[in-house]
Amino acid sequence: VVDVRKFYADTDHFTYDPGFTSTGSCESKISFIDGDKGILQHRGYSIEDLAENCDFMEVAYLLLKGELPNIDEKAKFETDITMHTMVHEQLHKFYDGFRRDAHPMAIMVGVVGALSAFYHDSLDINDPHQRMVASYRLIAKMPTIAAWAYKYSVGQPFMYPRNDMRYAEDFLHMMFAVPCEDYKVNPVLAKAMDRILILHADHEQNASTSTVRLAGSSGANPFACIAAGIASLWGPAHGGANEAVLNMLTEIGTPDRVGEFVAKAKDKNDPFRLMGFGHRVYKNFDPRAKIMAKTCHEVLGELGIKDEPLLEIAMQLEKIALEDDYFIEKKLYPNVDFYSGIILKAMGIPTSMFTVLFALARTTGWIAQWNEMIEDPSQRIGRPRQLYTGEVDRDFVPLHQR
Ligand code: ACO
Repeated sequence: VVDVRKFYADTDHFTYDPGFTSTGSCESKISFIDGDKGILQHRGYSIEDLAENCDFMEVAYLLLKGELPNIDEKAKFETDITMHTMVHEQLHKFYDGFRRDAHPMAIMVGVVGALSAFYHDSLDINDPHQRMVASYRLIAKMPTIAAWAYKYSVGQPFMYPRNDMRYAEDFLHMMFAVPCEDYKVNPVLAKAMDRILILHADHEQNASTSTVRLAGSSGANPFACIAAGIASLWGPAHGGANEAVLNMLTEIGTPDRVGEFVAKAKDKNDPFRLMGFGHRVYKNFDPRAKIMAKTCHEVLGELGIKDEPLLEIAMQLEKIALEDDYFIEKKLYPNVDFYSGIILKAMGIPTSMFTVLFALARTTGWIAQWNEMIEDPSQRIGRPRQLYTGEVDRDFVPLHQR
């Protein structure tokens, strides 16, 4: 007779930890978070220093290789990345198979996973050179794939990558330029986009990064692993929050309705949550949110947007929530996505593309973590256990007697 309780009691080293709130799944040298103090560091450098002084390519290099590049190393890295910005021409046909109203994240999951079908020379995960080429390919192609997902949805011709442009600038060009028209990317917006990419580049063992590692732990190829990460990121509790924040601010509509929504969020009988608030690890201000708020003011200033109602609502919401006992007690502070939606909207990026941008940025972190996992000699296939709570020892009844 099976005694389930005794079985678990007798099993060595069994830990029940739903949501993995206190279980470390790996060793890592990439990102450090002190959630109580609101600290985030990549390879030992504070996110504030990186966002203020580096561009996204430097941060990508840092995450991937462990050190900040010098001038020559950076130039070589940028050349290596730009060599891979094109996607295989047959991928055009792949886009044509989607409905025009498909969510761009649905397209991202499909197209990025499908890269495995195009780049057979990047699939041997045991070859460090192939792994690096796959990493460059993913970082380089994401802006192209993301911008094309948008172009497809609005029925415009795809714009090819411009290798004379910087990473963020090139992405904005592919998003908004059209053939036969001169289009110049506003440098202030390109800088803001670059900063948004830096702020989203990596964040320890969050749901999507853990998904990439778990998928990769079985030996799956890097394109498939990153597609798995994109799928995990899509949910509103994770990367989908930036889209959900903007929808929420739009629904609130006017600053005088903020109190009503705060009350809704506190109501135990109402599943509504304030999107952009709270974090599994940060029990203090998310350091990225502070930088994002500053960038938000810069972008709105550059675009001459005064009295943006959504910004007013956001600031009012932040103020009320930070003074409210419920939010103070539960340590719910604005997270990185609280302000990013307002910036992206001001730049003309449609809401459905917000999470795509997050995926674009996080690809560097995902691929750095994936490489670190493969190179870790203690790496084993990820295989969580479970606490079985179902029936045991049932008498079998043949089909015709049930
Ligand atoms: N609004 C209102 N109450 C909240 C919120 C919120 N945004 N977030 C958490 N709470 C409450 C919960 O109801 C719960 O209350 P209880 O203890 O009385 O049951 C308590 O705070 C703890 O919440 P959990 O869901 O247990 O915390 P967890 O660490 O599992 O979740 C999460 C963290 C998913 C981020 C959560 O705070 C949330 O849903 N926030 C809104 C969505 C969001 O902004 N996600 C982006 C995260 S950052 C990122 O991925 C980039």
